[in-house]
Parts: sequence; structure tokens; C-alpha cells
Amino acid sequence: MRRKLAAGNWKMNGLRADLTELDTLHKDLPDLGPTEVAICVPATLLHAAATATGESAIAIGAQDCAPQQKGAHTGDISAPMIRDTGATFVIIGHSERRDDHGETDADIADKAAAAWAAGLTAIICCGESLATREAGTTLDHIATQLTGSLPDGVTAQNTVIAYEPIWAIGTGHVPTQEQIAEVHDFIRAQLDDRFGAKVADNIALLYGGSVKGSNATEIFAAENVDGALVGGASLKASDFLPIVAALANS
Ligand code: PGA
Repeated sequence: MRRKLAAGNWKMNGLRADLTELDTLHKDLPDLGPTEVAICVPATLLHAAATATGESAIAIGAQDCAPQQKGAHTGDISAPMIRDTGATFVIIGHSERRDDHGETDADIADKAAAAWAAGLTAIICCGESLATREAGTTLDHIATQLTGSLPDGVTAQNTVIAYEPIWAIGTGHVPTQEQIAEVHDFIRAQLDDRFGAKVADNIALLYGGSVKGSNATEIFAAENVDGALVGGASLKASDFLPIVAALANS
């Protein structure tokens, strides 16, 4: 059975006091069945968050990792360091990393390989800008990003893919059902071509960009949407829980 994942991305938000949200989330989690839940916190909170959630159904993730394992890279954090905190996921290639830090597809592939080597599941992101959407070249753009950002060796266990149209992130503008389904179907077909049906059929494809409790059920109704990567609505357990419930019920 294909993985289902509700992943939160706290981005550069959260102090130690905010970890109480994880307690609330844990306390009020619905019956998950096979649905997985992960919260990707800032690096400063990884160890405390992983310790607080322990063996519970809430996994902890980071938001980036270095491509190198260790060495003279001031300020960077390696995948083995992340794994050492108790975290099990890492977001790679978020559009904010691509834009703010000039990360290329090749950088992302190197980071994904480093994440796998440390035993982390990589949530690898792709998505088009508004200009690309309006130019009608979204699928070409996604194909290029996938080709460049996914190393050989993708499995359903080591990789989750998040489709996040940049114009939908933090804006409240959500693509239509048809637009989401079109890109997700396309991603599944691309994975099938490159890695074969056995791998492609089991990889979780997340949608991200202004997901809320009020639109989650509709988004999860698409056949190839297996979860969500949620920014703003993951900061408060009360906002995230309805999204988790919608996924568990989908
Ligand atoms: P948003 O962010 O849910 O706040 O739109 C999603 C993301 O960037 O992962």
C-alpha cells in the first residue's frame, strides 16, 4: 500500500516554547491507520522535538541538509547530524531554498543522496513559478526538476516528492483540482518511466501550497495526491489536526 504523509514545515518559525504544539498534536491525533505525520522544525528544535515526540506517531524532520557528511562548512548541518537528533525526515530543495540560496537541481540531488546515506527520508520538492505556469510550460519545468533533483536509487522508503507551485505557497491561491491532478499524474508517470512501476506506484506524492483544513479533503480526493506539505497551517496543532484527519479519512 502506498504511503500517506501529512508533513508540516515550520520554516523559520518556532522557539522552544512552541514545542507545546507537538504535545497538543499528539494528544488530539485522530486514528491514523497507515497515515504518517511528520513535523519539520528548525534545526535548533530538532533534538528537543524528537525527544518530545519519542516513539509516538509523530516523526520529526529537518528542512535542509548539507551534501557533505562533515568537514569545514561553517554554518551547515549534515544529514548524519540530523539523524543523530532523532529526526527521520528532511525536506530537500524547497523553493525557498532554491530562491534564497541559489540551490540547483544538482545540489538537491547531492543533498538527497546524503540524506539517504544517513538513513533519512528525503521530501524532495518541485514546483513552478507563476511565470512558468502562465507560459504553459509547467510540465516541462517539473520534468527538468525531477530529472536533475532525483538521484538514481529512489525508493518509496527513502523518498517522498512534494509538488509545490511557488505561486500557491503562503498566498491562499490554491490550484484547481484539475491542475493539481494533472501535475501529480505527470509526476507519477515520470517516476514510472525512470524507476519502474514497482517504485513509482508506491512513492508518496504530496501537494503543498496553502493547504488548510477547509480545502484538504478536496485536495486529497485526487488519485495521485498522497498527502500534503503544509507551511502556515502546521504551526498550530489546531490548524494542522483537521488536515491530518482529512488525510486519514481519504
Ligand atoms: P504554505 O507553505 O502551506 O504556508 O503555503 C507550504 C510550503 O512552503 O511548504
